Amino acid sequence: MAIRSVREIGDEVLTKRCKEVKEMTPRTRQLIDDMLDTMYEENGVGLAASQVGILKRIVVIDVTGEDPYVLVNPRILETSGEQTGYEGCLSVPGKTGVVTRPNYVKVTAFDADMNPYELEGTELLARAICHELDHLDGHLYVEKVEGELQNADQLQEEGE
Ligand code: NI
Repeated sequence: MAIRSVREIGDEVLTKRCKEVKEMTPRTRQLIDDMLDTMYEENGVGLAASQVGILKRIVVIDVTGEDPYVLVNPRILETSGEQTGYEGCLSVPGKTGVVTRPNYVKVTAFDADMNPYELEGTELLARAICHELDHLDGHLYVEKVEGELQNADQLQEEGE
């Protein structure tokens, strides 16, 4: 198990466009394993390679804690509907904000063996897919927040 350090907002690497993965190498496979370990360690629902400082088009997502998806070179095929809700990011620790995303997303991607597949998601999975794919193009959710960015712990207190 290898945990990589997660880059935080202000780090230039988070603003860069990631590059296509041309072939799966042992090094890239290790990166994917480390990304999964890091996502679980940090209690995230998704992680993009740029968040650990590597500019490759790879994201990992798991919205249930037992159903991980690896998406290499993901591309959105279809979106529909709308959802508005709170979002957070391991690269923006302690913060949260309201973002509107599609409620349904269909993507095509390659898995860790470079086999192509399609993934459909609604609600949280759709939100996570959109959030992570934005990272690959150098965008953070804070650019899309409606109203103010809030402290995550403050919001929790308000909700109690
Ligand atoms: Ni993020």
